[in-house]
Amino acid sequence: MAILIALNAILIAALVFLLASLIYSQRAGAPYVPIERKAMRRILEWGNLGSQDVVFDFGSGDGRVLFEAVRRFGVRAGIGYEISWWPYAKSKLWIRFVGAGNKVRIERKSIFGIPSDVFEEANVFYVYTSPETMKKLASTEFLKMKQGSKIISPSFRIPEDDHTFRLIDSTDIGWHRVFLYEKIG
Ligand SMILES: C[S@@+](CC[C@H](N)C(=O)[O-])C[C@H]1O[C@@H](n2cnc3c(N)ncnc32)[C@H](O)[C@@H]1O
Repeated sequence: MAILIALNAILIAALVFLLASLIYSQRAGAPYVPIERKAMRRILEWGNLGSQDVVFDFGSGDGRVLFEAVRRFGVRAGIGYEISWWPYAKSKLWIRFVGAGNKVRIERKSIFGIPSDVFEEANVFYVYTSPETMKKLASTEFLKMKQGSKIISPSFRIPEDDHTFRLIDSTDIGWHRVFLYEKIG
């Protein structure tokens, strides 16, 4: 009986943690909706990633994009900021499990107020958030990118009136319209 009560308590605590984490994601800027794996592979292939690249993921979720970029596309490093506990914890478990700790770095931090050394290090930025967050990022964090940096964005465009980025290409992958930009200003 005591074991059953303890198991119930653990289950309820896990559900509360999960729910709180999901609400937190939404409030912080974007819901936790991981990109589908098949589409992710095609997006990264289309983005032409390679050993010369360091990829940053704005809101890295469970880290799947970074792990894939490192393992399948051989990028030099992957960096992610993730604010929500549940996806962050999953990504940290994966780092241990797949032993990617020397190439993938994920921090539990907000994507607003990123230090400039991250923008020195990374040259490819993957961003899958929400239209509102995209707007906010374009007027804050994106300004810190080096000229020539690439942005890969499934589903959401950089605002049309932003002239610091050039749209290089766009395509349909899965149910996403995916946009590829270059920082020019
Ligand atoms: C649509 S999901 C994308 C996850 C992952 N990049 C992917 O493609 O699978 C957006 C992620 O951004 C995170 N997020 C939302 N607001 C954030 C913020 N202010 N700082 C850091 N992460 C944030 C959410 O918790 C969620 O994991």
